[in-house]
Amino acid sequence: MNTFEQMTERGHERVCFHQDPETGLRAIIAIHSTKLGNTLGGTRRWHYATEADALYDVLRLSEGMTYKAAAAALPMGGGKSVILLPKPGHRTTEAEALAMGRFVETFHGAYIAAEDVGSDPQFIDWMATQTKHVMGGERISTGGDPSPYTARGTINAMKAALAHLGKPVDFSGLTVAIQGIGHVGFGLAQLLLEAGAKVIGAEINDATRQRAIVELGLEFVDSDAALFSTECDILAPCALGGVIDANRARSLRCPIIAGAANNILDDPDEDAVILKNLGILYVPDFVSNAGGLIQLAGTHLGLTEAQIDQKIADIEVTTAQVLQDAESMPSTHAAAVALADQRIAAGPHAAQEQVHAG
Ligand code: NAI
Repeated sequence: MNTFEQMTERGHERVCFHQDPETGLRAIIAIHSTKLGNTLGGTRRWHYATEADALYDVLRLSEGMTYKAAAAALPMGGGKSVILLPKPGHRTTEAEALAMGRFVETFHGAYIAAEDVGSDPQFIDWMATQTKHVMGGERISTGGDPSPYTARGTINAMKAALAHLGKPVDFSGLTVAIQGIGHVGFGLAQLLLEAGAKVIGAEINDATRQRAIVELGLEFVDSDAALFSTECDILAPCALGGVIDANRARSLRCPIIAGAANNILDDPDEDAVILKNLGILYVPDFVSNAGGLIQLAGTHLGLTEAQIDQKIADIEVTTAQVLQDAESMPSTHAAAVALADQRIAAGPHAAQEQVHAG
């Protein structure tokens, strides 16, 4: 499918490609929707096998941001950016971040950049020297690392899933399997361990795995395949997207999937129905992982810390509503999209009122 066909199918407003001759930066910014406001979404740095893969990723991620903001009742649209790295694990440089900051600046605020896989508060602060349209730094821009908020929100989504299945909302004695012990996965593991859960991890980066063993005493399995077939109470994908497809769904041994990764399902329309038919409760990712967006968008919109905390607590309520609505719909994904679409249709004024009502 060519670029315009993909944009039309997903409803994108704008997709912009950029190459910087001085640094060799190659990046794409995609704006899916500005119906509820300007867009805020992370900058993912990743080595893609093909340019088509990078385009597919940024289109899916930016579309997900539209639903995430709407489901979280934030007056923000959906956008995202990707930097195409020349090789896996290519180190960040200040020059790369400055070039990306200049690219972001050309959107004059319609797209606000933040952290994602491969970028961190330092990278954000470097970008912030070139544009004020960036959130999530610590020295120059504001908001800080959003991942602790994302981890908290994911725990709230897990609570709603337990309650929906009529189980005690208590993590002690539960087993949670987490794929990816990075920024969010580490924080999530820590919160779950503190709450008395047993946590099993899978992580491809040796240093990251070692840190979790030393600091959290985390148990690891050798491979993703082993993790996804582990018998557990909750499976929490917290690495990259597309990790559950029809085949893998059938090999899962968990009653609940609730993670922080964006685009957990390979084909959300079909895979979410398969999961429902298998009796596996899937919490739509854009509902469970909204905590980081709430923190950064909330700071950008001038919410108080108490209002941000309330909205992160509300993830439990929204998840409960989506899971309930899904009882009479094809899947939990369909129910979450319907909720987001309703809020988008209500327009920016309704979203503004909701956000300030807390
Ligand atoms: P991160 O880059 O810090 O962590 C991802 C971790 O997953 C890394 O340690 C990486 O080595 C590991 N990983 C990658 N592929 C793997 C595989 N096949 N098996 C096992 N481990 C693997 O990224 P971060 O910030 O923790 O984000 C994780 C996910 O959550 C991403 O999908 C991101 O888009 C999503 N997300 C993050 C938010 C945040 O606040 N950081 C907010 C909302 C979503």
